[in-house]
Amino acid sequence: MEKKWWHDKVAYQIYPKSFLDTNGDGIGDLKGVTEKLDYLKELGIDIIWLSPIYKSPFVDQGYDIADYYSIGEEFGTMEDFDHLLEEAKKRGMYILMDLVVNHCSDQHVWFQKAMEDPEGRYGGYFYIRKGKDGKEPANYRSYFGGNAWEPVPGTKDLYYLHLFAKEQPDLNWENPEVRREIYKMINWWMDKGLGGFRIDAIINIKKNIDFPSYEPDGPDGLASAARMIEDAHGVGDFLEEMKRETFQKYDAFTVGEVFNMKEEELKEFIGEDGHFSTMFDFSAHTLMQGSDGWHNSRKFSFREWRDALFDAQEKAQEVGGFEANIIENHDEPRGASRFLPEWAQKEAGKKMLATTSMLLRGIPFLYQGQEIGMTNCRRNSIDEYDDISTKDQYRQALADGCSLEEALACCYENSRDNARTPMQWSGDANGGFTSGTPWLAMNPNFREINVKEQESRPDSVLNYYRKLVALRKAPEYKDIFTYGRFVPLYEDLDDIFAYSRVLEETEEGRSGEIRILANYGKQPCALTLEKPVKQVLLSNMETGAKAGQTEVTLDSCQVLVLLTQ
Ligand code: GLC
Ligand code: CA
Repeated sequence: MEKKWWHDKVAYQIYPKSFLDTNGDGIGDLKGVTEKLDYLKELGIDIIWLSPIYKSPFVDQGYDIADYYSIGEEFGTMEDFDHLLEEAKKRGMYILMDLVVNHCSDQHVWFQKAMEDPEGRYGGYFYIRKGKDGKEPANYRSYFGGNAWEPVPGTKDLYYLHLFAKEQPDLNWENPEVRREIYKMINWWMDKGLGGFRIDAIINIKKNIDFPSYEPDGPDGLASAARMIEDAHGVGDFLEEMKRETFQKYDAFTVGEVFNMKEEELKEFIGEDGHFSTMFDFSAHTLMQGSDGWHNSRKFSFREWRDALFDAQEKAQEVGGFEANIIENHDEPRGASRFLPEWAQKEAGKKMLATTSMLLRGIPFLYQGQEIGMTNCRRNSIDEYDDISTKDQYRQALADGCSLEEALACCYENSRDNARTPMQWSGDANGGFTSGTPWLAMNPNFREINVKEQESRPDSVLNYYRKLVALRKAPEYKDIFTYGRFVPLYEDLDDIFAYSRVLEETEEGRSGEIRILANYGKQPCALTLEKPVKQVLLSNMETGAKAGQTEVTLDSCQVLVLLTQ
C-alpha cells in the first residue's frame, strides 16, 4: 500500500457555532477555534474538520451556503480564518473545510438569477422541470420532509429540485459550467493552504435525470428521494473528475460523507487511488434507522452493533482502503448515550467505547465534546429544539399517531441537536462557552461534565483520551495501529468487543500484535489468550493482567490493550 501523509493521523470535528464564543454574541467563532488549538494539540489532534463557516442564512446550520468565497459574519472574517490556518500550521496541524456542493442556499446569487430567468443560463445550474398533470414532476420526499419539488415562483408549472430543505436547491452537476465553478472554488481554498475537505452528502450529486416517479413508500404518496439516487449510475465519473481537477494536485486529504453507496463500489471509493482518501463508516449509525422516521427507529443489540463495525472493517481492509471511524458527529446523537448499555453509561464505559473505536483500522475522527463524554440532552418541548430535521421528525411522529410525550422522547434519542449543544469548557455560567446567551441552550449537565474539571483529575475521560491518542501515535506502535491487519476475536461471545491489530514483518523488520479486549456486559468475563501477555499498554481500570499470563478477566466495562508475545 502506498503510504499517505494522513494514514497515521487523528482528526477532530469542530462544530464552530457551538465550540467557543469569544465576543459574547452566543455564537461560537473562528477566534474561539484558534484559542483552543493548544488544547487540541495536547489531545494529540492532527487534523481539524470545521463544519461550514461560509456565509449562510442558516436554514440548515450553514449547510446552505450563500457564498462559497466568504466567511459567515457570525464566525468572523477571512482574516480570522487566515490567522487560524497560520496558527494551525505552526503547530503542525491541518484544517479541513466542509465541501457542500450537492446544493447551495436559495440566497446564493446563482439561484436568485435562476429564479429571475428559469430558462436562462443560471436556470441551467439547477434542476428545473415542468410539472406533470398540474402536479410536481415526480413524487420524491425530500430528506427533511415534504415534496422535493418546489414551484418556481411566478411560473405556471415549473419546479426546482431540492433533496434537502426547499432553501437548499440542488446544483445541476450534469452542467459542465457548474462543475468548473465548483472546482475553481475548491482550488481557491486549497491554494490558501487547507489540508483538504470533508465532502458533504456527495452521493446525491448523481441523479436519475429521467426523474421517474416511484411506488409510494408512505401515506403521503411520496417515495424517499433516496430511491431515485439509488437508481442513478455513474457518480464515480463526477468524483474522479473532481479529484483530478482539484484534490489530486494538492495531495489533499478528503473524507466523504457517503450513504447508500452501491456496495460493489467500495474499492472505487476508498481503495488505492479511490475517489476519496477515506469515508466515514456509518454502519453503526444506520442500524437504528426505522422504516418510517425516528418514531419507529429500531432497537439494536450489542451483537448487531459490533458485527456491523467488524463487517465494515473487513470490507475496507479487503479493498485496501481506510474508513474514518466515528462514534458521533453533528448529525448523530451522542455515542455515549447511544452505544453504551445502561450500566456502562459512566466514565468507565465511555473510556471503553473510546478505546474500541479509536484503535480500529482506519482514521479516527473525534467530535467536539466526545473527549469529555458529553451526552444527549433532554428538552421539555419541541420549541427548545432548533434543528430543521428534528422539527420535521417530530411533526411526522405526531402525524403517525404518537403522543406528544412519545414524539419528544424520539427527539431525545435521535435529534441532531443532541450533539450541537455548546461545548462544555467549565462549570461556570454557560459552561464557559459564552459570556452571552448561547444560541442553543446548554446541556444542563455541564456542571458535572466539563473540560476544566476533567483536566484537573488524572482519571477523567479527557485524560484517558489523551493517553489513548498518545498510544495510537507512539513511535513503537504507530505502524501496528495504522497498517496492522484487523482480526476479530471471540466473535461468538456476547458482550465482548475484541480484536487484534497484526502487523506482519515489514521490510523495515517491524512486526507485532496488539489485542484490544473489552467487556460491554454486566458480568465479569474470563478470556483465554492464544499467546501470553507481554505488556499491558492501556486499561481503563486497575488490572491484574501481568506479563506471561494466558488468561485475563475483564470486569464489566473494562477494556484492555495488550501487547502479546
Ligand atoms: C449532511 C450534513 C448535514 C446536512 C446535510 C445537508 O448530511 O452533515 O448536517 O443537513 O448534509 O447538507
Ligand atoms: Ca461569537
